[in-house]
Amino acid sequence: MCGIIGVAKRRGNAVAEVLEGLKRLEYRGYDSAGLSVLSGGAIATVKRGGRVSGLEEGAAALSGGVAIGHTRWATHGEPSDQNAHPHTSGAFSIVHNGIIENFAELKAELLADGAEFLSQTDSEVIVKLIDKYYKGDALSAVAKAVERLKGSYALAVLCRDFDGIIAVKYKSPVVVGFSESGVTLCSDVPALPAEVTSVCVPEDGDFAVITAQSARFYNSSLTPVMRVRRPVFLDQFNSGLGCYAHYMIKEIHETQRTVRETCEGFFRTVDVKRLSEYVRGADRIIMTGCGTAYNAGLAARRFFSDRCGVFCQVEIASELRYFPPRVTPATLVLAISQSGETADTVEAVQELKKAGARVVAVTNCGYSAITRVAHMVVPVCAGAEVCVAATKSYTGQLAALYLISKLSCDVFDAQSELLSVCPRIGEVVKGAERAKEIAALCAQSKAVFFLGRGIDYAVAVEASLKLKEVSYVFSDGYPAGELKHGTLALVDENTLSVFVICDEALAEKCLNAASQIASRKGKVAVITCLDGVAEKLKGTATVWKIPDSPLNLSPFSSAVALQLVAYHAAIILGRDPDKPRNLAKSVTVE
Ligand code: G6P
Repeated sequence: MCGIIGVAKRRGNAVAEVLEGLKRLEYRGYDSAGLSVLSGGAIATVKRGGRVSGLEEGAAALSGGVAIGHTRWATHGEPSDQNAHPHTSGAFSIVHNGIIENFAELKAELLADGAEFLSQTDSEVIVKLIDKYYKGDALSAVAKAVERLKGSYALAVLCRDFDGIIAVKYKSPVVVGFSESGVTLCSDVPALPAEVTSVCVPEDGDFAVITAQSARFYNSSLTPVMRVRRPVFLDQFNSGLGCYAHYMIKEIHETQRTVRETCEGFFRTVDVKRLSEYVRGADRIIMTGCGTAYNAGLAARRFFSDRCGVFCQVEIASELRYFPPRVTPATLVLAISQSGETADTVEAVQELKKAGARVVAVTNCGYSAITRVAHMVVPVCAGAEVCVAATKSYTGQLAALYLISKLSCDVFDAQSELLSVCPRIGEVVKGAERAKEIAALCAQSKAVFFLGRGIDYAVAVEASLKLKEVSYVFSDGYPAGELKHGTLALVDENTLSVFVICDEALAEKCLNAASQIASRKGKVAVITCLDGVAEKLKGTATVWKIPDSPLNLSPFSSAVALQLVAYHAAIILGRDPDKPRNLAKSVTVE
């Protein structure tokens, strides 16, 4: 997390471009922001606790052709002006994304040398080390400093004696983009400016020496290396808010397009024959991811168990990494990640790949770390997702996983089946009034429990995550059958239980559970695609009837309904749904 950017321009002021880039990078962290600019052999820096908009006034007076910037998700030291990046020392100013694990011992050594520290960050030791090793050659000073570091780092370094930027990449992401007006380095492809037409992705251990004209790459022994320059088309990533108040609601409305484009992208880019061999030949399927991506795996497990007859398990990547199951060359790992950069997911699949498994990445970001680990990539075509809480990327992941699951059967059917969810999603997004009604109940409750059975349970877990992250109302997602084994003790008139009921075979059991809650004065709401539920619960529950759906496709509409509930709960409670406190979208540290 944390976003870094560096701009070297042929003409004009790099500061404005860095500011714009930081706004696009804010989803990586928004505790503080800062930038440094090189002008006439001097470096000027402005930095502040808080969001990027707080920098604008201080940055207005600055200009120069080369600048670096940072948006922070705090790891070491509170969010404050002092702990904001860039950090400076002598001739240098740096921005850093990652964690320096041995910073305490390096700091003690530098303090003993007489260095003075202004922040509590781990990053400040890097600039002090570079300054210590500087004897007139900035690249060798940076190389000597990083030799001392343990941990992860994407760095952009300004030196007042060099008209460019030195970048280093190790475990944290960095890409270098090229346009008519110069060269831009950035944490992520989607945050590059729209004019960028091609990108290079450095490898771990690489240094990049960037000027307005070029980027030269070196490996960790400072030997020049070639890095492939690939074309990119960035317009789709930079579409702004349009007529919407927040990215969360805009992105929920982009769900149908995401499903359609994911379906189209699947048949256009995936080697379907090879992937079906992987699926049909699998001795087991392991799906893994973090947060919402993990929850997409939970729902998709039902697709696989219904269709493939192959054993399928879903594991949280941060756990899987340290407790890997035994795999064989026939084991298929589906690594699910919107950003493709989540450290725990990337590391977990690296382990499984080393142990011999086949890895297929299901990701929204084509140039990301996970695509370099995987044997094959299945694209989620959601476009840029700016809201920290994943919405359309969840449904896009479901779409991609649905198509993969169908490879053991007739894949052409799958396409039309999948596209049939779009009109149903369209109906759901029109249901704002129902969503607001349930959202108001959530906002008044001290706790909200989301309950379901089977595939509805998987949706309940994701609904709970969505509500807690954007509204800060305590919530939990449970299998409805577990209610009487503990959660029922928490039910009173201040709690709300939201049932997801789309599985007809299990509906009666859920309705019984809903009645048990209502008879204990707990509030009840239901999202269902089944007829007759509202009548059965008349007077005891608020029921939102969403369009009828085949069971395995029901999460596409029930999850969207619950995303809308979470959004409206956040609005009622005055939260910023796009940037929930303490969170970041791209979690590149463990
Ligand atoms: C963060 C985001 C979530 C996301 C999770 C996994 O926690 O806030 O929205 O689901 O990371 O991210 P990934 O990019 O791997 O899907």
